[in-house]
Amino acid sequence: MNTRVTEIFNIKYPIIQGGLAYLAYAELAGAVSNAGALGQITAMSLESPEALRNEIVKVRKLTNKPFGVNFAIGQHNRPFEQMVQVAIEEKVEIISVTGGNPKGVLDMVKDHPIKSLVLVAAKRQAQKAEELGADAVIVVGHEGGGHLGRADTGTMALTPQVVDSVSIPVIASGGIVDGRGLMAGLALGAEGIEMGTRFIATKECVHAHPVYKQALLDADENATVVIKRSLGAPARAIKNSWTDKIIELEEKEVGYDGLKDYISGRANRNYIHEGKTDLGFGWAGQGVAGIHDLPTVQELIDRIMVEAEEVKNKWKL
Ligand SMILES: Cc1cc2nc3c(=O)[nH]c(=O)nc-3n(C[C@H](O)[C@H](O)[C@H](O)COP(=O)(O)O)c2cc1C
Repeated sequence: MNTRVTEIFNIKYPIIQGGLAYLAYAELAGAVSNAGALGQITAMSLESPEALRNEIVKVRKLTNKPFGVNFAIGQHNRPFEQMVQVAIEEKVEIISVTGGNPKGVLDMVKDHPIKSLVLVAAKRQAQKAEELGADAVIVVGHEGGGHLGRADTGTMALTPQVVDSVSIPVIASGGIVDGRGLMAGLALGAEGIEMGTRFIATKECVHAHPVYKQALLDADENATVVIKRSLGAPARAIKNSWTDKIIELEEKEVGYDGLKDYISGRANRNYIHEGKTDLGFGWAGQGVAGIHDLPTVQELIDRIMVEAEEVKNKWKL
């Protein structure tokens, strides 16, 4: 299955593991890249530029395949420019950018042999990313886990719109968990898919607490909810008493100060690292309903490719 995405990013399969705050470290990224897809580590979950450098070295010990470093520039209090500098120095092949204007990061990497991905949730953002020199865009629809676009547009509607509006390759994301989703993305004109939630429910996502993984397995199609909408930063999480409380506070219009303890990185880690489901929240996309097991990453990728083949054969594509 060759597309411009497999060519540009030098990967066997057109599948990308999304940045995953506090979850996408070397173990996961290395396993995903070894399986023929594109693994990524999440820079902004690391404390310092040196911690990022160490994590890059750790991935390199696990795989000799390309991998990416994800920069969620809007959401964290980290020195992202120094971190991008580390990625350049360490000769990382690929970076991805989300959560703000990607210009600063793209300008920093443009004279280096680094391929760039920009996450977008609207046509205009995709066109802007193309103008700024991005090699591809990842379009994230409203089904996705974690932070979303403000317009609530779903992957099915958004992907072809973005495909028609840019000439660089588009990667579909949001709600995809299997080979059917891969084929759907390709049918919509995308040249690859990105998955976030599905990769959390794997053996190599070692930072996810078993309780979080079990919650992903137990979830049905109504199990997620969008929080932080009142702050202009909607994001999808597994519904629990903590997110109920957040929504209640948002309805009371308490603003950032009234919400900050509930939406903090600490509250996120309480749930995802420590399994304290009544003391925090965990992000997940709507596709979570289609996750029924905890395979190795290799098993997952192999299965997705078999499922994609089944779709092709069923419809004689
Ligand atoms: C737990 C979690 C953490 C995430 N953290 C980040 C992040 O740090 N940077 C980023 O670009 N995207 C982040 N995302 C978004 C994913 O990279 C991806 O775009 C999204 O999960 C796709 O939707 P899906 O979960 O339905 O596959 C996160 C998603 C989840 C579920």
